[in-house]
Amino acid sequence: MLDLFAYIVMVPMVYLAFILFVAGMVWKLVRVFRSPSITGTLGLFPRELPRPLAVARDAFLVPSAFRKDRVFWVFIVAFHAAVLFLILGHCELVWNIPALQVIPHRVFLGAGSVGMVMMIGTLYFLFRRFGAPVREISVPEDYFLLIILFLSILFGSILHLVDRLGIGAMHVPVQAYREYFAGLLTLNPRLPVMVSYSPHYAVMVIHIFFSNLFIMLFPFSKMIHAVFAFFAYSTARR
Ligand code: HEM
Repeated sequence: MLDLFAYIVMVPMVYLAFILFVAGMVWKLVRVFRSPSITGTLGLFPRELPRPLAVARDAFLVPSAFRKDRVFWVFIVAFHAAVLFLILGHCELVWNIPALQVIPHRVFLGAGSVGMVMMIGTLYFLFRRFGAPVREISVPEDYFLLIILFLSILFGSILHLVDRLGIGAMHVPVQAYREYFAGLLTLNPRLPVMVSYSPHYAVMVIHIFFSNLFIMLFPFSKMIHAVFAFFAYSTARR
């Protein structure tokens, strides 16, 4: 029974998560681009920089958060930088990326610090919502999503750190992960024995379960700001 659950999480649920993610993104984009445009301007002034530079500055340096609350700003910048490293790390689990080995490392870059930064950041974003005034504009879904994200990061970090700290029997070679992802990508899914017989297979299944849930909910939640923030800043600078 548990084997079946693990297989469902590791294979069909991963496909389902990515299908829902892509379909949800397309659906959201079509809805937004089909909605009637607003008359008048939503522009922000003054215009000190050319539009692409202003959009990049607003999106990556988040000056609006900096002006409001410096602590919040530090968490936003650190969390989003860690997300970038996290995406690169997961890409390295799929393919060898020689360009990243300019900094010689064992996958992931950051030796576990990426997960730590993200965990602290997620807890901050979660507990911030318990206090006024953010509580007033929060809905249950916001808490639920942050808890799912936290659990995904927590189990991903356990998976990674236990291996990195050299607990011998727990070692899963990156090549085994690449074989697993290659199977998924070529629609010929398989679970290499080094993955499915690893003593921390259960932790891996839990990590992938929460990650799949998060990916499925992404387009239908406030997380969509990751895409729409660029459109919003671009409109503001038009
Ligand atoms: C929302 C999506 C996801 C988040 C937030 C996430 C988070 C994490 C984190 C924080 C780590 C540890 C990184 C570190 O310590 O530097 C990790 C490792 C890992 N993740 Fe994910 N992950 C996600 C999606 C996935 C998916 C979809 C899969 C597989 C289908 C996956 C497979 C793995 C594996 C196998 C490791 C361990 C790698 C190792 O031990 O070297 N993750 N993840």
